Amino acid sequence: MPHFAVITGASSGIGAEFARQLSAQGYDLMLVARRRGRLQQLAAELPCACEIFPADLSQTTECSRLLQALEQRRVDLFVNNAGFGECGCFLETDLEKELEMLDVNVRALHILTKGILQKMQRQGSGALLNVGSSAGLLPAGPYMATYYATKSYVVSLTCATAEELRSQGSSVYVGCLCPGPVDTEFNKVANVRFALPGISAAYCVRRALAGMRRHKTVIVPGPLMAAGMAMSHLVPRGVLIRMAEYQQKRKISR
Ligand SMILES: NC(=O)c1ccc[n+]([C@@H]2O[C@H](COP(=O)([O-])OP(=O)(O)OC[C@H]3O[C@@H](n4cnc5c(N)ncnc54)[C@H](OP(=O)(O)O)[C@@H]3O)[C@@H](O)[C@H]2O)c1
Repeated sequence: MPHFAVITGASSGIGAEFARQLSAQGYDLMLVARRRGRLQQLAAELPCACEIFPADLSQTTECSRLLQALEQRRVDLFVNNAGFGECGCFLETDLEKELEMLDVNVRALHILTKGILQKMQRQGSGALLNVGSSAGLLPAGPYMATYYATKSYVVSLTCATAEELRSQGSSVYVGCLCPGPVDTEFNKVANVRFALPGISAAYCVRRALAGMRRHKTVIVPGPLMAAGMAMSHLVPRGVLIRMAEYQQKRKISR
């Protein structure tokens, strides 16, 4: 029987690329996002059994509806990928958009992580990948303050749950993908242009799947970004924050 994977935020970018690569590996899929048309179009292109599940994950009831739809099914892989960012001075950015970001990047991811890990523990196996960001590995990101804070939450939650599962001898895997810039629709949504060149979504997903095979808890795709993140431990916290500030300011001034 083919393996079954669920991908949130599958209507574009990294999520759509997970769908392409997992379908090529023989997975059957469920694709989740708000834009039904995009999901239908992608499902029609893929050479696998592919269901779509249009849902606005900023709504708790929609997260529950997704968990309910999966209740009687075995899920081998769940990719918690839906998310977005926003750039600007914290005193000026839109509160409603930030609260929606907390709802999607933190609240929905939290609800789905708990529900799916409980389910996988009952199943006896499974893998869950949370899509964080290299932003979540840094102490703070001035001019993208809320986004960095949400991604720190993702990294912290994932590392803690991974350690709990490991110490309990569980066969369930949980990991966190922490890319730097990736060329997707992220920028358009965040209303910015990257200050650093991005990697392709295809490369990002190939490295993510390779990291999962090696059961890595934190996966940073790309040798440059991985080296940068490893070296960041040697840099004082205040300097890292000012480096992040410099990059974010360059984005909004472009
Ligand atoms: N691109 C980067 O540089 C980068 C770097 C590090 C981490 N990331 C992370 O990677 C993930 C994917 O982003 P991306 O770069 O692929 O950007 P993207 O192309 O804009 O994709 C974002 C996806 O999230 C979905 N989404 C947003 N709000 C949603 C909601 N309320 N309910 C359901 N789905 C929702 C969008 O679908 P709909 O609009 O159809 O709902 C879309 O499929 C995000 O978590 C992002 O933070 C991106």
